[in-house]
Amino acid sequence: MQLNGKTALVTGGGRGIGQGIAMALAKAGADVAVADLDIEIAEETAAKVEALGRRSIALQVDVSSSESVHMLIQAVQEYFGQLDIAVNNAGIISIHSVEELSAQEWDRVMAVNAKGTFLCTQAELEVMRPRRYGRIVNVSSIAGKVGFPNLSHYSASKFAVIGFTNAVAKEVASDGVTVNALCPGVVGTGMWRGEDGLAGRWREEGETEQASWERHQKTLLPQGEAQTPEDMGQLVVYLACAEHVTGQAIAVDGGFSL
Ligand code: NAI
Repeated sequence: MQLNGKTALVTGGGRGIGQGIAMALAKAGADVAVADLDIEIAEETAAKVEALGRRSIALQVDVSSSESVHMLIQAVQEYFGQLDIAVNNAGIISIHSVEELSAQEWDRVMAVNAKGTFLCTQAELEVMRPRRYGRIVNVSSIAGKVGFPNLSHYSASKFAVIGFTNAVAKEVASDGVTVNALCPGVVGTGMWRGEDGLAGRWREEGETEQASWERHQKTLLPQGEAQTPEDMGQLVVYLACAEHVTGQAIAVDGGFSL
C-alpha cells in the first residue's frame, strides 16, 4: 500500500494514537500535517515524520472551534496545495456517573469528540469535493458501538461519530470521497495510562496503576493484550488506499466488542 504523493492531516497528532497514525501514513509515503491543541507535541511528531524523509508541518488547532478548524485547513492548503487524507482523531474522555455528570461536562466532551468531527469533516470536504478525491477517517471508539458505565457522555459522543460518518459517507459517495470510522479498543496512551488515565482512575483498593492496566487488558480483551497506535495506523493506511470501502465503522479491538 503506497501513499507517495498524497498529503494527509491528522488531528490530535501530537501523541498517542494520532502520532501512531501520522507515522504509519508517513511510512507509507504520505506527507503529513500534524495538528494538535498542544503545538509543542505536534512539532515533535512533525519532526519524526520529517526524519522519515516526508514533508510535515505542525499546526495548532482547537477542533471544537469552527474558526480554528477553518484556519487549519487553509494553512494545510497553503503549505501542501492539496489535502487527500484527513484523520479526525482528536478526542477527550472523562469519567462520571450519569447522575454526577454536569451539563457543562457533557457539552465539553461533545464539543471536541462530536462537534469537532463535524467541523473538521465539513472543512475537509470543502477542499476534497471539488477535486473529486478524498479519504476521511473519523476516530470513534468501541464505546461508539457499545455503552460503558460512567462513560455515557463519551459513549454518546462516539456513537454520534459513527452515525455522522455513515450519513456523510452516503452524501459524498458519488464525489470520490470515502468516509469511514476507526474504532480503537484499548490502547495504552495518555487516555488509559497514568494517574489521570482510565487505568489510574479504575484502580482497585491498594492496586498500582501498572497492575490496574494489566488487569484491564486481561479482563476486557479476548486477546489479553492492548492494541497499539501502530495497529490503528495500519487500518488508516488501508482505508486511505481503499477505493470502495465507505461508511464503515471498523473496530481494531482484539475482539473486545464481539
Ligand atoms: P491522547 O489523550 O493520548 O491524545 C489525544 C490528543 O488529542 C492529544 O494530543 C491532545 O492534545 C489532542 N486534543 C485534545 N483536545 C483537542 C482539541 N480540542 N483540538 C485538537 N487536539 C486536541 O488520546 P488517544 O488515546 O491517543 O486518543 C486518540 C483518539 O482515539 C481519541 O478520539 C479517543 O477518543 C480515541 N480512542 C482511544 C482509545 C484508547 O484506548 N486510547 C480507545 C478508543 C478510542
